[in-house]
Amino acid sequence: MSSMLSDKALIRTASWGGIGGIVLTLFLILLGNIYAGDVNERQRADRNARYGTDSGTVDRVKAVGQINLASSTAASNATTQVAATATPIIDGEKIYNGSCVACHGAGVAGAPRVGDKDAWAERIDKGVTTLYANAINGLQGSSGVMPAKGGNPALSDDQMKAVVDYMIAQSN
Ligand code: HEC
Repeated sequence: MSSMLSDKALIRTASWGGIGGIVLTLFLILLGNIYAGDVNERQRADRNARYGTDSGTVDRVKAVGQINLASSTAASNATTQVAATATPIIDGEKIYNGSCVACHGAGVAGAPRVGDKDAWAERIDKGVTTLYANAINGLQGSSGVMPAKGGNPALSDDQMKAVVDYMIAQSN
């Protein structure tokens, strides 16, 4: 009898132990899942910090010498604005060497030679406005023909004025 009891007790204990084991296992699985979710979350956050939009990685790995296509209207507007507000720097000497030196460098075909003060003195006396106008529109003078814009219609009036300023500065 007592042995039967103890057998029953043993079975009961064993089954409670079994149930306990199952419960513990389930609990551990649950805990593992919760923890795993946490790890995933942390991995994601870490990955974002390293490679995400705010990490600067996109900037660091983007192509060198990227061409700014006018795809972004905002960007191109900004560029246009900068171009419109910035005072263009015109290099008179450079334009002179490109379009005027052929005649004015050596004084070809009656062109007053740049650097020849005597040749320029009476022209400068006419006033800079006249010289601008004659250089822009051309001049059939007593010594020869000055073609409009030196024969380079691509030059703007402002560019022509800058070149004339340069020529005067070299010749007075
Ligand atoms: C094909 C030759 C030729 C070229 C190129 C040329 N010039 Fe002349 N230029 C002349 C001649 C010739 C005269 C003199 C005309 C005259 O007074 O009879 C002259 C005169 C001038 C004068 C004096 C005008 C005046 O009222 O006395 C200026 C300023 C001038 N040129 C500017 C320029 C500039 C700036 C360029 C370049 C963008 C240029 N020229 C290119 C031939 C040339």
